[in-house]
Amino acid sequence: MDQSHWQALRAQAERLARAPLPVDAARASEFALRVGPLYASFARQRLDAEARDTLFAMARAADLPTALRALFDGEMVNTSERRAALHTALRGGLGQSAAAREARALALAAQARMDALHAMLEASDVTDIVSVGIGGSDLGPRLAVDALRDFHAGRFRVHFLTNVDGSDAQHLLRGLDPARTAGILVSKSFGTQETLLNGTLLRDWMGGAERLFAVSANIECAEAFGIPAARVLPMWDWVGGRYSLWSAVGFSVQLAIGRERFAQLLAGAALVDEHVLTAPTERNLAAWHALVGIWNRNGLGLASAAVLPYDQRLALLPAFLQQLVMESLGKSVRHDGSPVLADTVPVLWGGAGTNAQHSFFQALHQGTETVPADFLGVVRPAHAHGHHHDVLLANLLAQAEALGNGWPSDDAHKGYPGGRPSTLLLLDELNPHSLGALLALYEHSVYVQSVLWGINAFDQWGVELGKRIAGELLPALSDATMPAGDPVTRALLAEIRARR
Ligand code: F6P
Repeated sequence: MDQSHWQALRAQAERLARAPLPVDAARASEFALRVGPLYASFARQRLDAEARDTLFAMARAADLPTALRALFDGEMVNTSERRAALHTALRGGLGQSAAAREARALALAAQARMDALHAMLEASDVTDIVSVGIGGSDLGPRLAVDALRDFHAGRFRVHFLTNVDGSDAQHLLRGLDPARTAGILVSKSFGTQETLLNGTLLRDWMGGAERLFAVSANIECAEAFGIPAARVLPMWDWVGGRYSLWSAVGFSVQLAIGRERFAQLLAGAALVDEHVLTAPTERNLAAWHALVGIWNRNGLGLASAAVLPYDQRLALLPAFLQQLVMESLGKSVRHDGSPVLADTVPVLWGGAGTNAQHSFFQALHQGTETVPADFLGVVRPAHAHGHHHDVLLANLLAQAEALGNGWPSDDAHKGYPGGRPSTLLLLDELNPHSLGALLALYEHSVYVQSVLWGINAFDQWGVELGKRIAGELLPALSDATMPAGDPVTRALLAEIRARR
């Protein structure tokens, strides 16, 4: 991909920038795709067939099929860390290389160990599980446990302990019985400050590590912490934290929903994997989703994007996607270290509808920024309140239409400019299978965008500096003689020390 592709994209966008969003019935089918339980409509994007073909040409220039094959086959797509990213091997055997086959075998063996520990816990007195982890070791399991609340097996209550803010632990543990609680320390590195501090607090509260489990690639450190290898489930350097829900990182999810339903979650992701790997770009849902993202960011120059699930069970989806998308695509240099040729990730944010309609939707409708949105809806509810669900769906459809078409008014305060693009993702119902499919779609969309931008979606060097400085500042919080920080930080440290 060279400058000419980005120029062609911008030329298309200039042509379409001020035109009203096209609305016609043909578009509704031409700009829509279905994969299993997922239906996606891109009909409300500011995009016509000519612009779409420019995007397809970019995907061809980036040789998308080869890039996808490289991902599934475990090639070194994480170049700065010289690693593969084989999360697809955790849920299926589509990789053809020896590395992918070996990863698949390791994933199946880990699943068998997970099942054995699951059975052991089921046979015990344990009623509550506390999963300790942060970032990718928390957000996916937390989302899945919350989103699949209608599918909980009921054997265990599953809780999450994340923030190093001690009030998180204090509030959680207050309601639990240490004799009936098991903990899972989820940390790929087993070196994350927050997780180790919370793990230590949990271990002390439980009176020892007897009912502690770990999920980690660092067995030695887990053992040094007091958790024997037999209770450490594996992680590997070929799975990134934010792509790890499908591994033993999802142990808490399996404990919540049971073995079969966890398998359905993986099967939903595998269904999308197969589609993404085999469908031509023109019919490939992840490619469409990614190309629309590129269009909004690089064609139309829109710097933020919203995720708006119209389902309370998906309320944590925006937080999960913030890590998946922004940690993966928040990069300014390409694989070879040279600057990117186009802007990368937009700021991603969002919240559940209809609640969000009564807070930030005002800005979406009449603010000066255009924010492209992914609306998500679920066709069949998991409750008996049919009218509630109709109201929810009516609001979902209404908001997309209002943002897109706007409404003129003689009163400047009451007019809606419209022209605000959105994608609509509909799930037939929200269950383990469709959730797996949805999350895999976003994973692949992220990868496709990274391929077009030429960046590494699997490293996160940008989180390291703050961690290092925090380590240097820690002693200075209580000891004024410790040299730390710049003059502004030193003044703030003095202010804090004076008021402790
Ligand atoms: O600080 C960022 C990060 O490294 C994430 O990428 C990761 O998901 C999270 O921290 C937790 O890391 P670990 O699983 O090693 O504790």
